[in-house]
Amino acid sequence: MSLLIGNIGSLVTNDPALGDGPLGLLSDAAVVVDGDTVAWVGPAGKAPAADGSVDAAGRALLPGFVDSHSHLVFAGDRTAEFNARMSGRAYEAGGIRTTVAATRAASDAELNANVTRYLAEMLRQGTTTVEVKSGYGLSTVDEARSLRIAAGHTQETTYLGAHVVGPEFADDPAGYVDLVAGEMLEACAPYARWVDVFCERGAFDGDQARAVLTAGAAKGLQPRIHANQLSHGPGVQLAVELGAASADHCTHLTDRDVAALADGTTVATLLPGAEFSTRAPYPDARRLLDAGARVALSTDCNPGSSFTSSMPFCLAVAVREMGMTPDEAVHAATAGGALALRRTDVGRISPGARADLHLLDAPSHVHLAYRPGVPLTAAVWQGGVRKV
Ligand code: NIG
Ligand code: FE
Repeated sequence: MSLLIGNIGSLVTNDPALGDGPLGLLSDAAVVVDGDTVAWVGPAGKAPAADGSVDAAGRALLPGFVDSHSHLVFAGDRTAEFNARMSGRAYEAGGIRTTVAATRAASDAELNANVTRYLAEMLRQGTTTVEVKSGYGLSTVDEARSLRIAAGHTQETTYLGAHVVGPEFADDPAGYVDLVAGEMLEACAPYARWVDVFCERGAFDGDQARAVLTAGAAKGLQPRIHANQLSHGPGVQLAVELGAASADHCTHLTDRDVAALADGTTVATLLPGAEFSTRAPYPDARRLLDAGARVALSTDCNPGSSFTSSMPFCLAVAVREMGMTPDEAVHAATAGGALALRRTDVGRISPGARADLHLLDAPSHVHLAYRPGVPLTAAVWQGGVRKV
């Protein structure tokens, strides 16, 4: 079955060969989908015939968001911690252990229902590709269970046994790193594509992160790192050195860190929901973009530091608070996320791409930042199937 989406007022292709600027913008455009794939993109007047058609009525169409960083396998919430923070307490990595206890106590069905629910929230806001991490199990059994559940929903699964030191190893962090790089990795690798470490004071230092990431790489998992979120640290340099797909957070960067990201292949993934929800200073996206670094935006959806599933919210904050233009933020939330996941089939609307499409109830993608907090999603197709 083929489908023609016609009368698109403004189309973001993310293919500069198809239209204007880095977004490859076309006005008065049409898209033809064949099965799960984009078959044709061009001027509305020249569109080939298709089995069915949808009138976009002059509205904007863009690629589905690619949310390349989330922690959806968890139970419980951390309302009390959020309240304390909004009364002046600082965010600390240790809060993760509260969610570990709730997650371990939850049934598979409960965890699965939570992932389903948050993915549905994301879809309703235009997100069609989601990376999901483990990291609230912190034992061999609980990490493997988290990843098995995540793998039932997405191919972008990330082993984050090194989120914080597991409660049983409070007095033996070296023993925990051995477990994460050994037996736990062995049990998790079959369900994971990526390996991640929270490289931060109160979590894991540079040497520990290196040990976990290289062990993961030896098992075929590709590295990505929670880097430089709460303080300056070795995370970004390590990410670039190891050729990690992404260094995530990048809130506290030296000039050397920025230069390393600009010169390397590692994407800087910025997570404004975390700074918003921990009342912390935002990362400087402008500085990274001006230096030539590749930037992605993502929600970091998790119950501790960023309990939002909304890419439009993150995009609006990135524009208002982090020096991004609306075009740059839309690019980072679509093509940037795809790059951070090393995917070429998503984050663009051009022939051969997966038909992940987001129709806005607005004439332009700029409205995502211009109309913050407004539900602008009119329709979503995932792999050519209308979902919203
Ligand atoms: O990306 N930084 C580490 N992990 C999460 C927070 C997890 C939590 O507080 O539960 C993050 O912000
Ligand atoms: Fe995170």
